[in-house]
Amino acid sequence: MADHLLAIDDVAEDFEDILNWAIEFKKMWKSGDEIALNFFPLADMAVGSIYEKPSTRTRVSFEVGINRLGGYPLTLLKNDIQLGKSETVADTANVLSRFLGAITYRCFAHADVAELAANSSVPVLNALSDKHHPCQAAADLMTVLEHFSDRNGLKVSWVGDGNNVLHDLMLACGMLGIDFHYAFPKGFEPDKGIVARAEDFAKENGSEMVGTNDPKEAVKDTNVIYTDVFISMGEEDMKDKLAAFDGFQVNMDLVSGANDNWAFMHCLPAHRGDEVTDAVMDHANSIVFDQAENRMWAQMSLLAYLVDNAAWGAMGEMMGVGF
Ligand code: CP
Ligand code: NVA
Repeated sequence: MADHLLAIDDVAEDFEDILNWAIEFKKMWKSGDEIALNFFPLADMAVGSIYEKPSTRTRVSFEVGINRLGGYPLTLLKNDIQLGKSETVADTANVLSRFLGAITYRCFAHADVAELAANSSVPVLNALSDKHHPCQAAADLMTVLEHFSDRNGLKVSWVGDGNNVLHDLMLACGMLGIDFHYAFPKGFEPDKGIVARAEDFAKENGSEMVGTNDPKEAVKDTNVIYTDVFISMGEEDMKDKLAAFDGFQVNMDLVSGANDNWAFMHCLPAHRGDEVTDAVMDHANSIVFDQAENRMWAQMSLLAYLVDNAAWGAMGEMMGVGF
């Protein structure tokens, strides 16, 4: 098994079990099951979370999830620590490993979270980099599995930028053998190396992985329409990018080409009126807030899996999750 989670395919071999574990654990915990309520694989352990960018969902879902697993979260904001000012990523990793049971890191350059992991003796979870957002993809696919009882013939479609969220979503769909169609404007395509990895998974698992520049084509007869902001964090001075996304807004007209049972997903925060309209965000078929909640359950499964694999496995066995 993987030591760290830098991209979602780091946990490819156990991905489906990680998601099913999260789904079952959520049910048990919400029904007040004593075993779930007293599952503390992070007992007396501090988990540190470094943020170089703002966060609502990731920060709160990690803080609450770590508490629920018996640990205590330490949120380390960039302005309060030495990293990036007088200390290197490698030295930071070495120091934090002496105190913490795991580290989550939201950074700009993916190379930084890779460097942190390379120098850490405890698991490092990527909490978003310019290339990957694996915790998001785990919550996304958990939500898809929870929402659609039968994933046979399921199609997930992306409309938007070739960004970090798309990268892990395409890998995750390929890993589960779910058909994935993605539309992006010319010049804003996803990373070629990551697309190749996702295509390999899709091939191995007998599903489609299709890229296009036509949003209507991508969402035709689809079950899930997913979008994200056109301007990601760190791209605030790239507002002229927006012109390329003309026709890529997820609105009721675009959604009308989807399957009748369509669901709308967005990693959030949404820029209402840009990549998605209020009518779609607030539609009964929008599952964005279930998706946001699932960040916590999916991350609890990932944390337990990486920090105490034996306890995670024993709980999974108890829940009958494909072990
Ligand atoms: N989706 C997501 O990562 O949200 P935050 O930026 O609020 O953490
Ligand atoms: N692509 C977005 C995702 C935010 C959760 C960003 O990187 O800002």
